[in-house]
Amino acid sequence: SEWECTVEAPVNIALVKYWGKKDEKLILPYNDSISLTLDETVLGTRTTVSYSATYEEDCLVLNGEEQKISSRLENVIEEIRRAFRKHAVRNKMNAQNLMIMTRFRFRIVTENKMPTAAGLASSASGMACITFALCTALGIAESVDMSRLARLGSGSACRSIYGGLVQWEAGKEEDGSDSVAKQIYPAHAWPELRVLVLVVNGEKKKIGSTKGMQMSIETSDFMISRPKQCKDRIQEVCWAFQAKHFPALGEVIMKDSNTLHAICRDTLPPVNYLNETSEVLIEFVHDLNSIIGEVSVAYTFDAGPNCFLVFQEKHEHLLKWILSQTFLDSNGLLNTDKPKFDNDEN
Ligand code: DP6
Repeated sequence: SEWECTVEAPVNIALVKYWGKKDEKLILPYNDSISLTLDETVLGTRTTVSYSATYEEDCLVLNGEEQKISSRLENVIEEIRRAFRKHAVRNKMNAQNLMIMTRFRFRIVTENKMPTAAGLASSASGMACITFALCTALGIAESVDMSRLARLGSGSACRSIYGGLVQWEAGKEEDGSDSVAKQIYPAHAWPELRVLVLVVNGEKKKIGSTKGMQMSIETSDFMISRPKQCKDRIQEVCWAFQAKHFPALGEVIMKDSNTLHAICRDTLPPVNYLNETSEVLIEFVHDLNSIIGEVSVAYTFDAGPNCFLVFQEKHEHLLKWILSQTFLDSNGLLNTDKPKFDNDEN
């Protein structure tokens, strides 16, 4: 007796960034954060879960390769099993079935949809997807808070459970029960909003976000004012969203990205996730906005050099055209060797 299901989960991109933890094991964040969930048809993860009493142990196949199950994923699976038992008892599942079910082991086969962009928030959509798949397989997807479960796999994953504009509240409880994500607005609240991902080639980052944020917590003084700053900025994002006021939204997005990277530079030893191309793109966006006369395009960067541009549909053609004229090679890929962008032309 074997059972199987396949689900998908999208990537999310933080507008006000999560950086730092209060609790490493429960993955409780030091500050609130807010993000946009991207369209899952392009980027994201697809996961197939099967379970059977004949499997000897849980196993994970990631992008075609069998992997050791990390302690974080182990925590997620354990919590999902616990949630399942609770659910079964509450729904008076018969004892024999419950016994059989708890003996089941999972086979998790998970794949990033766009391999070339494997580094793009793959932990967020990946952990969200595995959580979603396991909960669906066990029939508890509707009755548990999957964002709490996904959080145990990777903090930012909790926001990929929902679409649209999503806020992750740090929460106050020690057990993390209130550290969950909530949808603030669905995607259709601002249907003209677009995100363009510019994949900036570069070496694999030396310091991952888990380690980087740990170092910042320990050494950067900028972190002291961070929780309050995030609360204020999240309010601004929500207001801008409600009013569909792009210049206000764009300004907060860029400021918060810059704050994140300033914190990283203030960390000891300093961390730099941006490269020369990222810096050129930042300048490009500011120049473009000053030509247009108001903030019409905003950039944001996570713990890496890839650039996410946020803008409205009405600027899509103009933006893509200018980008193609200045940065793209004949294959449509970002030319990272020699950015051709020249200030004097503008
Ligand atoms: C810069 O969620 O990858 O992308 O919780 O340790 O797995 P862990 O970290 P992770 O950190 C993401 C950091 C960020 C900002 C964000 O997504 O909010």
